[in-house]
Amino acid sequence: MVLDKSYSISEIDNRIYGSFIEHLGRAVYGGIYEPDHPEADDQGFRKDVIDLVKELNVPIVRYPGGNMVSAYNWEDGVGPKSQRPKRLELAWRTIETNQIGTNEFMDWAKKVNTDVMMAVNLGTRGIDAARNLIEYTNHPGGTYWSDLRKEHGYEDPHNIKTWCLGNEMDGPWQVGQKTAYEYGRIAKETGKAMKLVDPSIELVACGSSNTGMPTFPEYEATTLDIAYEEIDFISLHQYYGNRSDDTANYLAKTMDMDHFIKTVTSTCDYIKAKHRSKKTINLSFDEWNVWYHSNDADKQIDAWQIAPPQLEDVYNFEDALLVGSMLITFLNHADRVKMACMAQLVNVIAPIMTENNGRSWKQTIYYPYMYTSLYGRGTALKPILSSPKYDSKDFTDVNYIDCAAVYQKEAEEVVLFLVNKNLQESISVTTDVRSFEGYQVLEHVVLENEDLKATNKPGSEKVTPHKGGSSKINDGVLETRLTKASWNMIRLRNVNA
Ligand code: AHR
Repeated sequence: MVLDKSYSISEIDNRIYGSFIEHLGRAVYGGIYEPDHPEADDQGFRKDVIDLVKELNVPIVRYPGGNMVSAYNWEDGVGPKSQRPKRLELAWRTIETNQIGTNEFMDWAKKVNTDVMMAVNLGTRGIDAARNLIEYTNHPGGTYWSDLRKEHGYEDPHNIKTWCLGNEMDGPWQVGQKTAYEYGRIAKETGKAMKLVDPSIELVACGSSNTGMPTFPEYEATTLDIAYEEIDFISLHQYYGNRSDDTANYLAKTMDMDHFIKTVTSTCDYIKAKHRSKKTINLSFDEWNVWYHSNDADKQIDAWQIAPPQLEDVYNFEDALLVGSMLITFLNHADRVKMACMAQLVNVIAPIMTENNGRSWKQTIYYPYMYTSLYGRGTALKPILSSPKYDSKDFTDVNYIDCAAVYQKEAEEVVLFLVNKNLQESISVTTDVRSFEGYQVLEHVVLENEDLKATNKPGSEKVTPHKGGSSKINDGVLETRLTKASWNMIRLRNVNA
């Protein structure tokens, strides 16, 4: 491999380390909020969960859905809690108590030092509800909705900057599913009205729900064509699973993700050319993760419960490898992927788990997410890598090694993130780092485990990183050994600085 400080991809937008909290399962109730828990603060938020979220340094959290937003009345979640209605929540077929709504969530976001990416309902509602919501959250005062916010105890506007225009509107599972034309029109008109209320906001339009949708990428092209002037980002969603228990094929799925990003980027640029526009639309990969472990269990859950344990995937070690590689993929597309949200954050397909009235703990996927979020900030460099390759069921010429590199100019640090997908053998990597004179290895963190299916449980974390990786620099060459099936972070720093 060759790594050179002049081979830069782009500055990294820190919002690629975003996450997502939906009113779904135990994400909100029993997750971030549990007023009877011994760790609850004065607003009922769990302090142990706040601490775990803060450790991840999450820059932005998408809220309140997800599928849930497509039949959500935001007005149900503001004002005195005792007067808030209980509703049938149609996306996940539960009871929504509305004890947490916009204002409380903004308070929680402050507590965990994050911004909010707020979604509006373009399923059952549209322009009117969206323009009222942004008047409520962002207008300083002196109007009906902004004064109502003050009456509710929030004198200052929340000034939410980033907004999603609906969620997965092409999906037949969505309440109020729309064709590309119908969606493009409502996204354009809603976006226009929202920007009239607050021109400083940025808007994310829905793309296809995933690459498997029959209308992908035509849905993106039509939406962009209609709403190009109003929107700033197009959204991508993708989840992977290892249903056939074929780990080599499973770990190769980042090739699909890479292809997805390239296709959507090309679609954006095609419409840009068609419109003779100077404006570039960037990508918001605002749902991504592994999701499949809980599918069968979810079928057994009865409808119309409050906060049932839905989508509670228990992640194993190989999932952490894939998550590490997905984050590497974002870094290697840092020029166009400017936001991304791991879906989700607590209990629901999440890095953080809680017991009702009990402990909280870190899933295996917590670790690659945490380290990449903490150290993957700065300029993404393009590693020129020649890796041995393999073929799997669905993919050919899969690199055994995935790598991304980040240069932190001020700190004079270079951080490499690497995954060795070879399940049998370690691989030695030789990297020319001569452009980084005076740099030495600061630490080499490794996540590895003999058992690909090892999981973490409360009080017993089997999958945790260690700092005993093998890396050294001699005469401008970094010699690294990547153990079989491992995720690695290597930090280099200028010792002469
Ligand atoms: O994250 C779980 C669900 O996955 C979201 O609600 C939806 O947008 C997607 O299909």
